[in-house]
Order: sequence, then C-alpha cells, then structure tokens
Amino acid sequence: MTTDTQLLLDHNRAWAARMERDRPGFFTGLLAQQKPRYMWIGCSDSRVSANEITGLEPGEVFVHRNIANVVVHSDLNALSTIQFAVEHLKVAHIMVVGHYGCAGVRAALQGTRIGLADNWLRHIRDLKLRHRKRIDHLLPEQQEDVLCEINVIEQVGNVALSTVLQDAWARGQQVTVHGWVYGLRDGLLKDLLVSMDGTETVVEVFRTAIKRYPRSPGPVVDAEADTTFDSLDDD
Ligand code: CO
Repeated sequence: MTTDTQLLLDHNRAWAARMERDRPGFFTGLLAQQKPRYMWIGCSDSRVSANEITGLEPGEVFVHRNIANVVVHSDLNALSTIQFAVEHLKVAHIMVVGHYGCAGVRAALQGTRIGLADNWLRHIRDLKLRHRKRIDHLLPEQQEDVLCEINVIEQVGNVALSTVLQDAWARGQQVTVHGWVYGLRDGLLKDLLVSMDGTETVVEVFRTAIKRYPRSPGPVVDAEADTTFDSLDDD
C-alpha cells in the first residue's frame, strides 16, 4: 500500500535519479563542502519555501525558519545558525523574509491565543505596541500587512545588532542583511529597502525604513496605551 509518506520517498528517488542523469556529479560535487552565498531567515509557513521561490539549488542557501521569522537576541538556535553562516560559511547576504498573510503576525495583531507560541509571538505584539501610532489608524487588513513589514524591519535590526554581525563588521567582513516580504497572492518578493552592511548603517537605515509608515494624521486613539509601554514608543 502506498502511504502519504511513501509517496515522498518515491518522489525523492525519482528526483535524485533525474538530477544525476541530467547533471552527472551533482551530488558528489556537493559532498566535500557547502559554500552558499546566502542565508535565509524565514517563517516556517509551508507556502514560503526558500529554495523554490528564489530558484536556488541545494548548496546555495543556508536556511533558518521559525514561526513568523523572529530573531530574538537570546535565541541560541537562531544565533548559532547565524554565527555558523557568517563565520564558517562566510555568506555574503542574510535575508530576513516575512510574508503577507502570516498567521503568527495575525495572532499577535489580534491577540488571539494559540498556545505556547503566544509567548514567542509576544515579541511581535510588542512591536505592534511600539509602533501603534503607525498601525492603529489603518484598516484591519492594512494593519496586518504593515505589521508583517515592520516585523521584518525590526528583525533585520536584531540580526544587525547581534554580536555575530557586529563582530563580523568589526573584522571588515563583507556581509549584508536584507529585509524582504513575500506575497502569497502573487508569489513575488518585495525588497523593504532596509539593507544594512555595517554598524554605522544600522540606525539610519532602520529609521528611514520605519518612517515610510506614516503616523496617524489625526489624534491617536490609543486604546492600548498604558505607562508600561510608553518607553517603547518609536519616537
Ligand atoms: Co508566517
């Protein structure tokens, strides 16, 4: 009987045979080492596959994915992966890639309880609070798209401010952090123009990117304001 998973194994055998037939030595060529130029930090969402949507092959992109593409300063999993990519693989580009229609961002925006992931998504809810003057006045569907983009911009900043990137740039290593967002509707990647390639670029690039999201022209209805978050305003 062919099970769901047997189909995958069958597909794999056919794919491996096709690759070896069309490009003899493809696998043995990758045996010695991987030398990817790119690192991808994206959402775990099954619709946003790094290799497929960028046309990259095995060996060309080093990938780290989690719910809603968050890079937390104390996340040893993400930091270890970034360190390996920068210091050992010497990638030239790190792309933080969010996507519109992200369920994690939506849950953070709406305050929906999911379970354990609520604590992870709290990082995004904090961003929504910090940038609420640029978000709350928008229509609901616009709020979600903007929070997806602002989340990417913030995570690019987090990668750039990590000890790994700070040390790499101090050594003179050339590595650039980019922020992109992927459209589920059309399959297109959008560059959020938040590329950082040195410590001195971080603050200015970040500020310029955030200022593309205008604040409410009128008085702000600040339903969630409380003194706890005043210090997190994005002034
Ligand atoms: Co997502």
